[in-house]
Amino acid sequence: MQALQDKIAIVTGAGQGIGQAIAVRLAQEGAEVIVSDINLQGVEQTASQIRQMDRKSLALKVDVANFEDVQAMVQKSTEEFGRADILVNNAGVTKDNLLVRMTQQQWDWVISVNLKGTFNCTKAVAPHMMRNRYGRIINIASVIGLVGNAGQANYAASKAGIIGLTKSAAKELASRGITVNAVAPGYIQTEMTERVPEQAKETFLKTIPLRRPGLPQDVAGVIVFLASDDASYITGQVINIDGGMVM
Ligand SMILES: NC(=O)c1ccc[n+]([C@@H]2O[C@H](COP(=O)([O-])OP(=O)(O)OC[C@H]3O[C@@H](n4cnc5c(N)ncnc54)[C@H](O)[C@@H]3O)[C@@H](O)[C@H]2O)c1
Repeated sequence: MQALQDKIAIVTGAGQGIGQAIAVRLAQEGAEVIVSDINLQGVEQTASQIRQMDRKSLALKVDVANFEDVQAMVQKSTEEFGRADILVNNAGVTKDNLLVRMTQQQWDWVISVNLKGTFNCTKAVAPHMMRNRYGRIINIASVIGLVGNAGQANYAASKAGIIGLTKSAAKELASRGITVNAVAPGYIQTEMTERVPEQAKETFLKTIPLRRPGLPQDVAGVIVFLASDDASYITGQVINIDGGMVM
């Protein structure tokens, strides 16, 4: 039997990068996956990849910062699939600037997609999981939320906020059979990090004991573990996936 046989999963920001790799891997492990993203074309491509594996998938255009959008996503998912067992809060953005130059809009946008988006999805899905007395919520934080980064005050605050939210939700929801954990990736090769200047990439690499950038698959494997029965006694934790960058 596969680790996630017949489980129903929702992955946000699944149109590319880490979210897409997570969605495909969950399906490979036996889950049916609702994939959502602000970019419908990307997420339709993810869904078709999943259907080619003979798994059910539904692609939805959702802005996680918009609570009405998120509520509609959870309603559609539970109507079509009956339940939501696993939620992966992956959608995230960066808008880097030095603190003194950072605009209100840059701050608000990153906080509302990354932090409020995670709150919105958790709030919308939790009542369904509580009724079923089962759930796995996995949030994608970042090592930047642990150690900070010059030029990323908004992003670091959003990711540190996700860690606080993870621990609070873990305490609130544990009695209903729901675990809530976070992962903190380091430097993973995706479009998000493609934008980082070459020199900064080299500096990052020097701080990684395993001497290579991570791949989306490196994150996806840990998500499968946290969603599986093998992780049923783990909640409120943050697992770094960073080649040893932060110890
Ligand atoms: N790449 C890294 O090195 C790294 C490191 C640590 C954490 N992370 C986190 O991993 C997650 C995925 O990052 P990635 O590298 O795959 O980035 P990415 O930019 O390649 O993909 C992000 C996805 O989120 C979607 N998205 C953006 N805003 C959205 C919104 N409002 N609603 C719904 N979807 C939205 C995008 O359309 C895109 O498909 C993010 O939360 C990011 O902060 C990435």
